[in-house]
Amino acid sequence: MAGAARARTLTRIRASEHEEAPMATDTLSVTDNRTGSEYEVPIVDGSIRATELRRIKVDEDDFGLMSYDPAFLNTASCRSAITFIDGDAGILRYRGYPIEQLAEESTYLETAYLLLFGELPTSGQLAEWADEITHHTFVHESMKRLMEAFRYDAHPMGMLVSSVAALSTFYPEAAQVGDPENRLLQAKRLIAKVPTLAAWAYRHSRGLPYVYPDNDLSFTANFLSMLFRMAEPRYAADPALERALEVLFVLHADHEQNCSASAMRSIGSSRVDPYSALAGAAAALYGPLHGGANEAVLRMLAEIGDVRRVPAYVERVKEGDFRLMGFGHRVYKNYDPRARIIKETADAVFAVTGRSPLLDVALELERIALEDEYFVSRKLYPNVDFYSGLIYEALGLPTAMFPVLFAIPRTAGWLAQWLEGVDDPEQKIARPRQVYVGEDERDYTPVRDRGALVPA
Ligand SMILES: CC(C)(COP(=O)(O)OP(=O)(O)OC[C@H]1O[C@@H](n2cnc3c(N)ncnc32)[C@H](O)[C@@H]1OP(=O)(O)O)[C@@H](O)C(=O)NCCC(=O)NCCS
Repeated sequence: MAGAARARTLTRIRASEHEEAPMATDTLSVTDNRTGSEYEVPIVDGSIRATELRRIKVDEDDFGLMSYDPAFLNTASCRSAITFIDGDAGILRYRGYPIEQLAEESTYLETAYLLLFGELPTSGQLAEWADEITHHTFVHESMKRLMEAFRYDAHPMGMLVSSVAALSTFYPEAAQVGDPENRLLQAKRLIAKVPTLAAWAYRHSRGLPYVYPDNDLSFTANFLSMLFRMAEPRYAADPALERALEVLFVLHADHEQNCSASAMRSIGSSRVDPYSALAGAAAALYGPLHGGANEAVLRMLAEIGDVRRVPAYVERVKEGDFRLMGFGHRVYKNYDPRARIIKETADAVFAVTGRSPLLDVALELERIALEDEYFVSRKLYPNVDFYSGLIYEALGLPTAMFPVLFAIPRTAGWLAQWLEGVDDPEQKIARPRQVYVGEDERDYTPVRDRGALVPA
């Protein structure tokens, strides 16, 4: 076939029942200049199937062309109906609902229901859902002993990751991931129990006794109670702080195929139980490039310390000495819609807790950066992490708790992504290809024949 310039239509593999057959013009024409062969590849939903490229070969023995995409910069790994992001327009929607409306009107539990089931619940469904989650908030006493075994200064995120993984041993039936009812039961348990484990990780770091869940409180009020209750018979959270946490939880509930969501899907594709998969997703979130950026913002604001030092700091950023933390986003190149809502939430929190002196530094940084040509031309805007750390700090939480506070609401998103993945007939175990660049075959040399070690 080499050298033959003949058109070949590649067989299209239909993705699913929902997928429309492509229009005659919805194709990509490719010429392989190595052979002169021409190919036509169907375009569906603005994408071509990478496996179609395998048909492009120099000869019959050739493995076929692969696409090389480190960090998945331009590869869709699934078809998803959960979260929509238009980074250029600054749009984020869960199941079609704009994030602004959900942050204004909804609660975290309602949003979790929406993410998992695809529709907003009726009032009856919502009451039943809230009741079920509330009655799964307790964990086995052995979990408590397990957490108590951590060192006094254990990082709360390490404690959360480990204790979520340990939960799988209490629910061995969770391994039956092919059973939809069983899957749903584990999802409810996880949404309910992660805040309990998160709060206990915090209490442990403070050397305080763990507080049991209070089933008469709302999801966020109960979490605040498990964090802060001391000798009082019932912890009364300030309604403004309870609502602020609710808004933060709604905003952080999902963000489509980010690092931890794709970890959840990838681990889940092995058909392991959801506790083990979610522990892996939480571990991915722990990384400073993902869930740890809000902590970096706080450190940066403290380092600047005073509004008068902001212009000099911005100059150093422009000279390339370091980056402005909480600015820029891989996806959003307009404005992170969550940042705007968080800024309003911060005002509501500071009205109760008092104004953080670092807020003035943050506001001045934002003002200067948004006017400066360096940031404007690179489309660098405040992201979700710019103000969220200030809110968590105002609530009295240490920076080590910030990724934990992110993991609580993201549990709903991870589970929605996992449920969609295990139910998707197109999915298989995630197993990327590689471009091998190592040694060619060579013979083993016994150690006695390898010469002496030469010190570096
Ligand atoms: C989020 C982030 C990793 C996205 O990176 P990205 O989309 O790969 O963008 P790039 O690294 O290609 O940067 C593009 C340009 O903007 C600049 N830039 C990006 N983010 C910047 C920041 N926060 N401060 C200063 N300059 C920045 C880069 O230096 C680069 O400039 P150049 O074209 O002159 O080389 C990046 O903006 C960043 O590091 N932000 C700070 C950390 C942060 O807040 N992370 C939380 C994300 S939710």
